[in-house]
Amino acid sequence: MRQTKLDEFLELEEQNKELEKLINLEVEKNRQKDKIMFQQNKMAAMGEMLNNIAHQWRQPLMEISSLFIPIQAKIDFDLDIDKKELNQTIIKLNEITKYMSNTIDDFKNFFATTKEKEEFKLSSQINASLNILSSSLKNNNIMLDIIVKKNPTVYGYKNEYTQVLINIINNAKDILIQRKIKNPKIIITIDEAEDEVIICVEDNGGGVKVKPIEDIFKPFFTYEKMNGTGIGLFMSKLIIENNMNGRLWVENKKDGALFKIITNK
Ligand SMILES: Nc1ncnc2c1ncn2[C@@H]1O[C@H](COP(=O)(O)OP(=O)(O)OP(=O)(O)O)[C@@H](O)[C@H]1O
Ligand SMILES: [Mg+2]
Repeated sequence: MRQTKLDEFLELEEQNKELEKLINLEVEKNRQKDKIMFQQNKMAAMGEMLNNIAHQWRQPLMEISSLFIPIQAKIDFDLDIDKKELNQTIIKLNEITKYMSNTIDDFKNFFATTKEKEEFKLSSQINASLNILSSSLKNNNIMLDIIVKKNPTVYGYKNEYTQVLINIINNAKDILIQRKIKNPKIIITIDEAEDEVIICVEDNGGGVKVKPIEDIFKPFFTYEKMNGTGIGLFMSKLIIENNMNGRLWVENKKDGALFKIITNK
């Protein structure tokens, strides 16, 4: 009788050890799985960041290459390049590369909660966006009208705000070119209410042809465009609504689309 109990006990011990081994093996497997998942998440996040940076770099890269066209032409025709012209090109180049470098930093801490908000003048961020866009607007004969009713100060992330402006103006430009609109025009209006700052970007490109119209803010939603990735407006909405507590919306007007960015003062 006693012997049997001992046998049973020994057998149970053996089984427990086996079980423990199995558990350890499973735990180790799970740990490996977590590690792989973590790596995959990290890779996905990095891929997303690269996508965003690539998206925001397309326009400034184009601007840089068109900046040197007149200088290259002068060299080809053996003409003199005056110092003033060269200097202006260098100043602009510096501003554009500064923006490109800011873009990397912005995306690196896009979801960081520690970054500091600051006060900035809206007009200076509009100027920064136009630095990145002016040549391609000019080359496509797109008229740009800026109506400054007020020049308010905004509280938030100024570089990210510039990115939003660039995305919206760029979209208007793309549509105006693609639909071959006669007398293409973009009108930017700056205004302020009691505790809000309102910026409107309106074009005469015929409006958004998507229904429901809000779909254009979905990630990777692109329509009618040759090389669209559908990142631009999704990212813009994230910046304004999640990071700056504002609102970004769109409506169709008689001649085209109207985008409104509303943020707090
Ligand atoms: N001003 C506009 N007029 C008409 N349609 C527009 C306008 N702005 C955006 N859209 C529509 O919204 C869609 C989504 O825009 P979004 O900027 O998110 O992506 P995209 O421009 O297609 O791609 P990407 O920004 O990567 O070039 C566009 O494909 C276009 O159909
Ligand atoms: Mg776009």
